[in-house]
Amino acid sequence: MSLELEINKRRTFGIISHPDAGKTTLTEKLLLFGGAIQVAGAVKSNKIKKSATSDFMEIERQRGISVATSVMGFQYREKQINILDTPGHKDFAEDTYRTLTAVDSAIVVIDVAKGVEAQTEKLVEVCSMRATPMIVFVNKLDREGKDGFELLDEIEQKLGLTACPLSWPIGMGQRFKGVYNLYEKKLVLFSPHGKQADEDIIEFNDLDDPALETHIGEDAAEELREEVNMVSEIYPEFDEEAYAKGELSPIFFGSAVNNFGVKEMLDCFVEIAPSPKPRPTEERMVEPAEKKFTGFVFKIHANMDPKHRDRIAFLRICSGEFQRNTNYLHVRQNKKMKFSNPTTFMASKKEVVESAFPGDIVGLYDSGNFKIGDTLTEGEKLQFKGIPRFSPEMFRIVHNSDPMKAKQLAKGIEQLMDEGVAQLFVKEFGNTKIIGTVGALQFDVIQYRLKHEYGASCQYEPLNLHKACWLTWEDDSKFKAFAERRKRDMAKDKDGFHVFLAESAWQLKTVQENFPEIQFHFNSDF
Ligand code: G4P
Repeated sequence: MSLELEINKRRTFGIISHPDAGKTTLTEKLLLFGGAIQVAGAVKSNKIKKSATSDFMEIERQRGISVATSVMGFQYREKQINILDTPGHKDFAEDTYRTLTAVDSAIVVIDVAKGVEAQTEKLVEVCSMRATPMIVFVNKLDREGKDGFELLDEIEQKLGLTACPLSWPIGMGQRFKGVYNLYEKKLVLFSPHGKQADEDIIEFNDLDDPALETHIGEDAAEELREEVNMVSEIYPEFDEEAYAKGELSPIFFGSAVNNFGVKEMLDCFVEIAPSPKPRPTEERMVEPAEKKFTGFVFKIHANMDPKHRDRIAFLRICSGEFQRNTNYLHVRQNKKMKFSNPTTFMASKKEVVESAFPGDIVGLYDSGNFKIGDTLTEGEKLQFKGIPRFSPEMFRIVHNSDPMKAKQLAKGIEQLMDEGVAQLFVKEFGNTKIIGTVGALQFDVIQYRLKHEYGASCQYEPLNLHKACWLTWEDDSKFKAFAERRKRDMAKDKDGFHVFLAESAWQLKTVQENFPEIQFHFNSDF
């Protein structure tokens, strides 16, 4: 098969949601449709339960599950679908942000009763930064929830998406009768527990047809007609190009646990979701159909066995064909490397792959050569863009509590930071080392892994900071003056970039006003 055909077949996406909205359930139903699993329950939830904060074995177990489900691939209607798993727990949000740099589109799951929640907002914001096309699945229609129009308002206002409903619910909770598929003009009648039969899907071009009453009853028919009229008045018509640019989001309604509305969405998804697109590097745009292979590492997973310090680096193929046992250039290290066991992961199955194409993800066994964002090519010096680090939200000063193990501690911290577990900032004044994370759980993970994998111990000192901001400027003398004035708040990140550590939102605002010639960035993608 030609490279172009392979590329056109690929649909690489991530499912994002606030924990408990139904991401795992939906993933499982999609895998069932694709025949990738045969029974429900095969996909373990990668949720880390709240109690896990003090239960490290639980964290380790979860890490195992999450590597197994990192990429779930299946074939559906002649398309190769790759679902990239995103950790649901907010303390691992940074991992999710990075995984989203490796997808071509996303499905956003929203709980009909809870509406748009905090974690959904953050993740959609990350997708919006890169204009990633998004489809929204409103889940749990078998329960009472918010009114459809109210939800669409929330989706538009809180998520900043332009909504385009492609299905519309007929009642909800006890009164839930199904959905009207506006995209295919079909009435899809609900029966619980996935027991939907072919005769429950009815071609229905004209809602004014009195047959509607016989299917869903008088009241529901009247309500549906009225609401669908309103939908067509308020919301734009579906426009595939606008969706592909991330400017319009199709909305579907359903119930993942009842396997209802999922197939409609999947059928639409395979038709409209983008195949791999060109990707920017510092040097030039890379087209997927270029003959020569390129790819970047977006995630690194440490081995769970502390005796073997090897890790798995997840590589997203961006162009050409990746082949096993072939020499490639590790651009940052200017070093040739070849991989004898590139792996794909599917639930608990691991497989060695001979070759992979744009949109595919392969796992590379690594003994410490890779950092997040590293590029591999056939020889050209390229650096893929858009794998930002985000400002952490929690900070602690880290102290070595075993002076005999200073080296181990330094190495451990460096490797954990390369893996993207957290970020290290070193204060310019006094060399204080500060670890910044997205969630509190990360601090426990670091302490535990330093001990078990590197034999080093550390202690934390609390530190009240609001944000770490990366700085850019045009006039060096202005920056020098600023750095001198704010000496105590200045630090460097692990790549040597200057960072301002803001104590509070108020302080940050004042500093920004006082130094208008310095630009403050909340992620490293400047
Ligand atoms: P997550 O990955 O987004 O965190 O969510 P997950 O799929 O684990 O779903 C969270 C809970 O919501 C699960 O219940 C799941 O069964 C339920 N759920 C998912 N889809 C639907 C739906 O369409 N309708 C209803 N009513 N519930 C749904 P749980 O009690 O936490 O777990 P379980 O014991 O049922 O597995």
